[in-house]
Amino acid sequence: MTKINSVITAVHGYVPDYVLTNQELEAMVDTTDEWITTRTGIKERRILKGEGRGTSEMGAEAVKGLLKKRGMEPSEVDMLICCTVTPDMKFPATANIISDQVGILNAFSFDLNAACSGFIYGLITGSMYVRSGLYKKVVVVGADKMSSIVDYSDRQTCVIFGDGAGAVLLEPSEEDLGLRDHEFHTDGSGRIHLHMKAGGSVKPPSYETIDAREHFVYQEGQPVFKFAVTNMAEVSASVIRKNNLKGEDIAWLVPHQANMRIIEATARRSGIPMDRVMVNIQKYGNTTNATIPLCLWEWEHKMNKGDNIILTAFGGGFTWGAIWLKWAYNPS
Ligand code: UT7
Repeated sequence: MTKINSVITAVHGYVPDYVLTNQELEAMVDTTDEWITTRTGIKERRILKGEGRGTSEMGAEAVKGLLKKRGMEPSEVDMLICCTVTPDMKFPATANIISDQVGILNAFSFDLNAACSGFIYGLITGSMYVRSGLYKKVVVVGADKMSSIVDYSDRQTCVIFGDGAGAVLLEPSEEDLGLRDHEFHTDGSGRIHLHMKAGGSVKPPSYETIDAREHFVYQEGQPVFKFAVTNMAEVSASVIRKNNLKGEDIAWLVPHQANMRIIEATARRSGIPMDRVMVNIQKYGNTTNATIPLCLWEWEHKMNKGDNIILTAFGGGFTWGAIWLKWAYNPS
């Protein structure tokens, strides 16, 4: 029997127009462009402004662009996964809302939450359905409106995050391309360092939780930084090592964009020079589930069929992992 591989056949992204610069943040909280640039690498980020606008709107734009690029009708999509920590509502799933907005009527869709590692978890989940032969067109979306859960009076978190969305299409291929290997980890004890205190079943919303500003991202930067540096670097190096690859075999490293210093440490540990690392943190900040697909979208014209690509992420949970895949198409 021929082996079915799962390959990415198209990628598209969306970022809102509004640019929130470090200079504008200097006027909002006690910070400086110099601090933000040297500690994180971020110069600006995009914000989805306006009432009644949510994650699904950005996700739907990315998916519409994806289908247009591939010359596909919405009715051809079999399955849609939306990876997000900022769903439009607690339920139904944002994936359902995106499907409705795009006119995807014949698919089953659901959300996946693995914080900043969500997109790579979603990519593997979708790929397994393609590899099994069950589905032929699977869309994986990474989308977050982080501005909806960021406290713009907290200088430790508000400088980091931004809004955006990206999407990829997974299809079957008999060629030796696409997903090759992956390694994922979870350590739930890390949740104390990065979470949202209220709004869940343990602490439902109340006047008290609102007064205590508990519906925003809570992050202890230093422990998260320490875990992220060690684990993102180690898991990428591990996937490379296990598959008898070397840094020079990797065409592109695609790291989650949380902090320039974490990205550099991961590249160093994996033996990959920075000119082969996708970095757009300076423009978009940390868009959580959207960082990796936004990188793939921006670098799509530079990737060639057969290129070895390493995707890697670290996030709340803690969750972390890396994927090795072979890119499946040349730039058009
Ligand atoms: O994507 C999900 C996973 N998340 C991450 O990977 C994020 C990991 N963490 C980080 O990227 C970094 O820890 C941060 C960027 C969040 C913070 O950078 P840091 O170098 O770890 O700074 P710090 O928290 O150790 O703070 C150093 C100093 C403190 O002042 P004192 O106590 O030394 O006087 C902070 O109060 O910097 C201060 N500080 C700021 N100063 C100016 C914290 N935030 C700011 C700010 N502007 N925005």
